[in-house]
Amino acid sequence: MTSINYGSELIGRRAVVTGAAGGIGAACAKALARHGVWTACADIETPEATVTEIEADAGRALAIRCDVSDEEDVAAMYAKICQHIGRLDYLVHCAGIMRQNPILETETEEFDAVINVNLRGTFLVGREAVRAMNSQGGRIILIASDLGYLGRETFSPYVASKHGVLGLMRSWARELAPDILVNAICPGPIDTAMLSAEHMTPEWREKELDIPLARFGQPEEVADMAVFLTTDASRYITGQGLGVNGGSVMP
Ligand SMILES: NC(=O)c1ccc[n+]([C@@H]2O[C@H](COP(=O)([O-])OP(=O)(O)OC[C@H]3O[C@@H](n4cnc5c(N)ncnc54)[C@H](O)[C@@H]3O)[C@@H](O)[C@H]2O)c1
Repeated sequence: MTSINYGSELIGRRAVVTGAAGGIGAACAKALARHGVWTACADIETPEATVTEIEADAGRALAIRCDVSDEEDVAAMYAKICQHIGRLDYLVHCAGIMRQNPILETETEEFDAVINVNLRGTFLVGREAVRAMNSQGGRIILIASDLGYLGRETFSPYVASKHGVLGLMRSWARELAPDILVNAICPGPIDTAMLSAEHMTPEWREKELDIPLARFGQPEEVADMAVFLTTDASRYITGQGLGVNGGSVMP
């Protein structure tokens, strides 16, 4: 798989990637590090394997354990990042969870868990990123979903959380311009653990393929967009939900 070469533009920049233990987050962390970005890899699971891969590829990275829905954890994560690198250029916020259940089988605890990780987590991680970027500016890249534009039966808490992520993104893009550009990537079905039988029925997994490109995307294809959004080539883009979705949604 090929991706754009941005030369030396990103060398020495500093990023935090959440959800970096696997899936889209791990792909984003590795892609940024390959471009010379010092990358803090944060996850509620241990993100050491991603860091080991980055270091084996001559990149620079730091593993941080962090529950993005926990305010103290998030503050400690940024304290550690600032202690290591002083300030931050990029946030790529990938941490998220999905649950599938009909409304009458959705416990309040399950609703709270999804909203806490996906929406409250985005708020906490985004707010502290703004502090860490301080007056020098930066880029915030959130991972929403094509379901940020749609309703979908049996996924309502997840869908609501992703609509919320787009609301935060659009509001922050206005509030933080022109110093910080804020965008969201809205992936379609990407081949990660999130689409596994643990989180989704086989019937829905099959339905996910009913899109123009008729295949699951790869995490690296989302990472290509994340890297683009850190470069000078994307300097006039803010407040946008950018679909990497095989044509699943055409908003
Ligand atoms: N895979 C898809 O089809 C798809 C489609 C659209 C959007 N997304 C979004 O992409 C993002 C990444 O998902 P993925 O597909 O890579 O799934 P994934 O399950 O492979 O990765 C999610 C990562 O987030 C981490 N995480 C979960 N809860 C956390 C918490 N409280 N604090 C810190 N980290 C936490 C997990 O440990 C995991 O490493 C999510 O926000 C997801 O909603 C995925």
